[in-house]
Amino acid sequence: MGLKIPPIIGHRGARDYAPENTLESIRTAYEMGVTWVEVDVKLTADSVPILFHDDELDRTTNGHGLVAHTRWADLQDLDAGNWFSEGFTGIRVPTLEETLDVLMHYNMGVNLEIKPCPGREVETTEAMLDLLTQSWDERDNILLSSFSHVALETAKDMAHDFTRALLLEDEWPKNWLEIAEYLETPIINISNNCNREQVELVIDSGRQVFVYTVNDPQRAKLLRQWGVDGVFTDDPDAITPDLFRTN
Ligand code: G3P
Ligand code: MG
Repeated sequence: MGLKIPPIIGHRGARDYAPENTLESIRTAYEMGVTWVEVDVKLTADSVPILFHDDELDRTTNGHGLVAHTRWADLQDLDAGNWFSEGFTGIRVPTLEETLDVLMHYNMGVNLEIKPCPGREVETTEAMLDLLTQSWDERDNILLSSFSHVALETAKDMAHDFTRALLLEDEWPKNWLEIAEYLETPIINISNNCNREQVELVIDSGRQVFVYTVNDPQRAKLLRQWGVDGVFTDDPDAITPDLFRTN
């Protein structure tokens, strides 16, 4: 049985309105009426799970170099808000631990995308799951996803009771269904460059399908007509649940 995920998931929080993958971005999504968010999780050099998208610090902080080479003690001093706008100056990169507290406070659901730095797939998944199994009691308001098959396999072996989704890029491997069957993923998250046939292939396989990243209401309506279960959006103001209501 699939998870009951709402049709609108805030991408990296509410990415168009606050610096992505920060507590402020999650709070902003909540204030905009979003009940589930997607965030990216990777590890610092000393294996602290944090919210972060890129392998490098440069785009979303005032730091430089690889996240995988930066210890938490140094990373927590970086500014993760000013690059977005001056009003967010002083915002920090959050740990996964403090993120889970905020999500629980707001009673929000979450899609944790396991986004390991290269070579750290197993370690990243294990560190995340160590934390989750200690602190997250519910299983119906959390989804783990990844482009990394190793990460999804590790999650399957280590914590089978957390639902997993396979992420597919624009180009699908020929054996995508075999991979989904092996990894036991009842959900497939696909790119917005998908076509109707691809959506229908996932639906015909008995799986739920979500699409990233959709910021155009007309496109969201079309995807709904094709039968997708929901979309990830940077803009929860433009992409609202009424686009997904069937009449
Ligand atoms: O999880 C959906 C989406 O976030 C995957 O791509 O690069 O935005 O993490 P990316
Ligand atoms: Mg992501």
